[in-house]
Order: sequence, then structure tokens, then C-alpha cells
Amino acid sequence: MRRLRRTPLIRELVREVRLDRSDLIQPMFVEEGLKTDAPILSMPGQRRHSSTTIGREVARLVDRGVKSVILFGIPAVKDEIGSAAYDPNGVVQRTIQDVKDQYGDEVVVLTDVCMCQYTNNGHCGIINDGQIDNDATLPELAGIALSHARAGADMVAPSAMIDGQVKTIRQALDDNGFKNVALMAYAAKHASSFFGPFREAAFSTPKFGDRRTYQMDYSNPEEALREIALDIKEGADAIMVKPALSYLDIIYRAKKRFRMPTAAYNVSGEFSMIKAAAREGWIDEKSAIMEVLTSIKRAGADMILTYHAMEAAEWLG
Ligand code: PBG
Ligand code: ZN
Repeated sequence: MRRLRRTPLIRELVREVRLDRSDLIQPMFVEEGLKTDAPILSMPGQRRHSSTTIGREVARLVDRGVKSVILFGIPAVKDEIGSAAYDPNGVVQRTIQDVKDQYGDEVVVLTDVCMCQYTNNGHCGIINDGQIDNDATLPELAGIALSHARAGADMVAPSAMIDGQVKTIRQALDDNGFKNVALMAYAAKHASSFFGPFREAAFSTPKFGDRRTYQMDYSNPEEALREIALDIKEGADAIMVKPALSYLDIIYRAKKRFRMPTAAYNVSGEFSMIKAAAREGWIDEKSAIMEVLTSIKRAGADMILTYHAMEAAEWLG
């Protein structure tokens, strides 16, 4: 076996899995009312952007060859029903318009469709009698997705894990003249401790309880496949598994079973663990990041949502 490992060029020649800049989607936070951007302490190198600084960051990404972003909004005001989430002048809606005005089809704009940054209880849906009311949440999610489509989003990505969300959103898009807006389903999204840094970044920690009545139990791989099958049936154009690293088996099975465009979300906690260990000098940052991203692709992901997108793109040249 060692003959084909002898030199760097031979190793490159026989390489089976290649990471490419076009596989990467950078998640970005945009906060209403910020004067300038602000560092996210739990996610070294990541920032909450203002409506003005986010343009510069997108320009830097494009420059490095990362041409896909997923936007997360942080509103100035939260309420019971998360109404800022579908405000046509909301911070995400305005950012979509700005990016699209400037870049047109040179940047793919995805949006996260959920309520947890926008509700004052930090949950992903409408609360009735202390419970997340599934069917009362569906029209809200459709309204959010529509507002993103009206602003010019290329792809909406519902992440609330509310049953029927893909069907309801697809229908709303089609009925309102947005047949060309694609839908990436956060199909197998697990209730995970690895979302911690994100919730700190986006101020979206639930005020009571947790998300285990809607996000998936990580002990159930067969259920993950059923979730994905449902989302495909409901009209998803692409599927996602989230998180990525503790879920490589799910990515592998999903790709093998469904042969769909498959994304994996290398989430905030996975990012921050690498940053923390690298900061301590316990691992080599660059090689660890490339190993992680390649492993996600090797498992079967076609696309990776990752906070490492900018740095990885630079190393990929
Ligand atoms: C919104 C949402 C979350 C993430 C993506 N979309 C937070 C959550 O479900 O609590 C997490 C992403 C990350 O950790 O990087 N529902
Ligand atoms: Zn949510």
C-alpha cells in the first residue's frame, strides 16, 4: 500500500475525496440596530454583523471563493409570536435584498426559517398552554419563508422541526409565485448540546424547558431516515443532517438511501471545540479543520454549512 503514499503528488493523484470551496456554506449572523460588528466570544473569529458590516464580510467571502451563505437574523425586539421574523423590513429581509442587489446570482443566499431568535421564550414555535403548538406554528413558518422569498432568497431552510413545515412552506411558495425558490430541509436535526455557542451568539436559548419535544433524539437513526423521507415527500429539494460530526453515520445512510443533494451542518459547538483546543496548543488547527471537513464529505455530504468556510477556502486556494 505504501507505494502510492510515497510522494505528495502521488498521494494527490490517488485521492478519493476532495473538498472544494464550492461545497462550503458560511453561516452569518446579522443583528438589528448594531452600529458595528461585534465578536462572538464563544465562537472565536465569528461576528455578529450589522446591516452595513455584513456587506464587507460577504465581499471577503466571495473574494476567497465562498459563494454561498446562510443568514440568521437577530431582531431588536422579540415577542410571543416572533413577529420580527416575517417583517418585510426585518434585518434578514433587508440583508437578503442588499446582497442580491449587489451580487445577483454570484452569491447563493440561503435563509434559516425558524422562530427561536424572534420569540421572547426562545422556542421554535407558537406556545399554547406551555406546549409548542405544531399546527399553529405552520402558518407562521410559511409567512417567514415567504418574506425571505419576497426579499430575494434563493433557498429557504426551515429548521423548526415542526411536522408538516416543508409541505406548508412549499405550498405557500408555489401559491405566491415563488416556484423557483428552493427548499433545503433541516430534515434530521437533533436535540444537541453542540448548539450551545450558537444560542449564545443569537440570544436564542429557550427560557423554559428544552427542544426535545420537536428536535430529534440522537439515539434514533431509523427515525432520522423516516424524518428525511417525509421531508422529501413533502417537497424538499435538498436535505440536511445536523450536527455533522457525531452524526456521520446518519449522513452516510441518508446519502446512500435517498441519493438527494445532502448537506451537513458542522455546528457551532463543533467549531468552538476545535478553536478552543487549537488555542491551548493541543491540536494543529489547520490540519484538524481540513480533516473534519473532509470526513463530513467522505461520509456523503455534498455541501457543508460551516463556520470554517472562510478559513478553509483560503487554505484550499
Ligand atoms: C434555529 C437554529 C439553531 C441552529 C441553527 N438553526 C439553534 C437551535 O436549534 O437551537 C444551530 C446552529 C449551530 O449550532 O451552529 N433553530
Ligand atoms: Zn429554532
